[in-house]
Amino acid sequence: MIAAVRGTHDILPGQVERWQYVERIARSLCDRYGYVEVRTPVIEREELFSKGTGETTDIVQKEMYSFTDKGGERITLRPEATPSMVRAFVEHSLEHALPAAKLYSMGPMFRYERPQKGRYRQFHQLDVEVFGLQDPAVDAEVIDLAWSLIESLGIPQAELVINSVGCANCRPQFQEALLKALGDDLPKLCADCQRRAQTNPLRIYDCKVPADQPIIDRLPHSVDYLCESCATHFAGVKAHLDTWEIPWKVSHRLVRGLDYYTRTTFEVLGQTLGAQNALLGGGRYDGLVKSLGGPDRTGIGFAAGMERLVLALPEGRGEESAPKVFVVAVGDDGRQEALKILRELRRAGLSAHMELEARSMKSQMKRADRVSARAAVIVGGDELSRGELTLRDMRAGEQTAIPRANVVHAVSAVLK
Ligand code: HAM
Repeated sequence: MIAAVRGTHDILPGQVERWQYVERIARSLCDRYGYVEVRTPVIEREELFSKGTGETTDIVQKEMYSFTDKGGERITLRPEATPSMVRAFVEHSLEHALPAAKLYSMGPMFRYERPQKGRYRQFHQLDVEVFGLQDPAVDAEVIDLAWSLIESLGIPQAELVINSVGCANCRPQFQEALLKALGDDLPKLCADCQRRAQTNPLRIYDCKVPADQPIIDRLPHSVDYLCESCATHFAGVKAHLDTWEIPWKVSHRLVRGLDYYTRTTFEVLGQTLGAQNALLGGGRYDGLVKSLGGPDRTGIGFAAGMERLVLALPEGRGEESAPKVFVVAVGDDGRQEALKILRELRRAGLSAHMELEARSMKSQMKRADRVSARAAVIVGGDELSRGELTLRDMRAGEQTAIPRANVVHAVSAVLK
């Protein structure tokens, strides 16, 4: 037997219903908030991510599935959706083509990470992006959509954390203050942090090494170094969240592991997921569209990990399926008529099932039980010659004779 690749999973019946439920709720919310769906390819040119996600990120340095294709081109299986969405926005001039550049996408992403609960090598994201809008109300609306998703799914005890990492104007002062505060402690930090100090000092806040934590806890906070317009923007975001009564908390360590963020960053954390507790994360990226060769347009968005949403979903959610009717055939004449009725019921929009291999009535009734049919229609014998069928309500255990012509109507009434 050839097993699935490490860190990848089949989504089987029993689980897939929970996925479909999450997807349904996500689509319906995006639609209500005015987002339209975009589907981008799973493969992209490698440079889209080295430039977009950023050379100093763990994703680009360690985690990408990249290869040279037969034409000699460097190709990457997308590790995240944001650079692809920016590419599509620019390549198709979507700001002119659409009434509002509010986009969403759903699909698989690939990162060569160490698999554990909630962390996989192929995983799925719901990705949401807005281009060209700067008002803090936009940040708050994106966060509201993220929060509403968690609420609509009934995920308990989730926590929203926000931060502002400033912009190209104020970030250098903050980085300088950070390095100054580190001072003589820098050599005591882990090797990753030493590297981060050189390439992207903000990412020191992402460090999980226990020995580094007391030093990191003493470092300055980005919100204390914001320029006036970043500070006003952040105050605006918080005020809008308060207006909508969305509970937030500032986390000074929320710098996020991707290079493109400016100003607002946020995550929603779940309580039941263990170490991989971020249900979703995102933020503003006002320089990314331009740096990828597009017009100077702002951007903000988030991505939710679908596996994590499905894991955090309360028991029983999304598991209800449409009630079923089972068609039972008695004898050859019955079988012919039963096949016709099966199709009639399906065409009327009902979930209708039948044993297509000829079996005894007893074994057909057993099968009806096995699929948890709400009703059975028994077709054949003298009844059929009188133009009648038997309709059995499987829950009440009651049987009635019904006219053949009335079958759709009578079955619908039982399935209701
Ligand atoms: P990210 O924080 O790298 O951000 O990923 C977003 C979410 O994807 C995470 O919060 C987590 O739920 C899920 N996720 C990430 N890696 C894995 C994994 N290996 N296994 C399972 N789930 C995972 C981004 O990807 C940004 N593109 C978000 C964004 C959109 N920012 C602005 N717009």
